Amino acid sequence: MPSKRSTADPWRIAVGDRCIRCGRCVRVCPSQIFGRVEPDGVIVVREPEGCILCGHCVAACPVGAVEHEAFPAERVHPVDRKALPLPEQLELLLAVRRSNRALSQRPVPQEWLDRIIAAADRAPTASNARELGYTLVTDPSMLRQVAEYTLEVFGRLERLLSNPLIRIWLKPLLPGVYRYVPVFARLRRDYAEGRDRILRGATALLFIHAPKENRFAAEDANLACQNASLMAETLGVSQIYMGFVLTAIRQDRHRRLNRMLGLEDRRIAAILALGMPEFLYPNYIDREPAGVCKI
Ligand SMILES: Cc1cc2nc3c(=O)[nH]c(=O)nc-3n(C[C@H](O)[C@H](O)[C@H](O)COP(=O)(O)O)c2cc1C
Repeated sequence: MPSKRSTADPWRIAVGDRCIRCGRCVRVCPSQIFGRVEPDGVIVVREPEGCILCGHCVAACPVGAVEHEAFPAERVHPVDRKALPLPEQLELLLAVRRSNRALSQRPVPQEWLDRIIAAADRAPTASNARELGYTLVTDPSMLRQVAEYTLEVFGRLERLLSNPLIRIWLKPLLPGVYRYVPVFARLRRDYAEGRDRILRGATALLFIHAPKENRFAAEDANLACQNASLMAETLGVSQIYMGFVLTAIRQDRHRRLNRMLGLEDRRIAAILALGMPEFLYPNYIDREPAGVCKI
């Protein structure tokens, strides 16, 4: 991927002879890089070092007049709007997508995993920072370690919360947290009996992470995660959001899982479990619609 350039070495951006002065680039650029000297006059490029590499100028130009060093011709594709999914098709995909936890041991083909990650990587990021990274775990021993790590952190949390001295003042303050104490115990029991209710038998885990200092790590990662999820559904791959694992990561001040994955300086902000389902659901259901306030 192209990366940001310094002020001393900005991207080469130019408006070529083909320009019809429609001004689309001026209107869509979030960094005001394009402008006119006079109304309806020629388009000029100003302060290209402010470019955030969103590519809107190139994508919006109807005549291919914007020349951007980061987006050479092979990276620019005409859009065939007739080939897009219809609203009804998207609505159906959204209704059909479920976190199917009945997983088989069949691995997800690597080509599909790559496609799922590529779909995630299409998601928008704040200021087009594109600082997300993806760590794909398919190694069975590492998958097991992730599940066991989660149970271990939960075990420690359970012991702490069950301490009578802590319990007496914390329980009234955090009743929601205390609801999970029996859940932790059940998860551990199930695992010991061969039922992994953390990973649910997933054969792949996709960790989505960003630099610790990225203020929009969670937003960026979760948008990417949903892209991945929808792509997985179209491929017939099951996907489950790994909230338990994320909770364990957040409760572990030693950041052991980050270290196990070589992500010491990153924040893991979304995790998706992937696996081949034993079966596909023959039905979708309607859920209670959320309240919508129109002002
Ligand atoms: C933030 C978040 C955390 C979740 N964590 C888990 C989890 O740890 N384990 C699990 O089996 N499902 C988890 N889920 C899946 C939800 O339970 C599931 O999305 C919800 O029940 C609705 O079902 P659906 O995804 O099939 O539509 C999580 C979902 C979200 C959005």
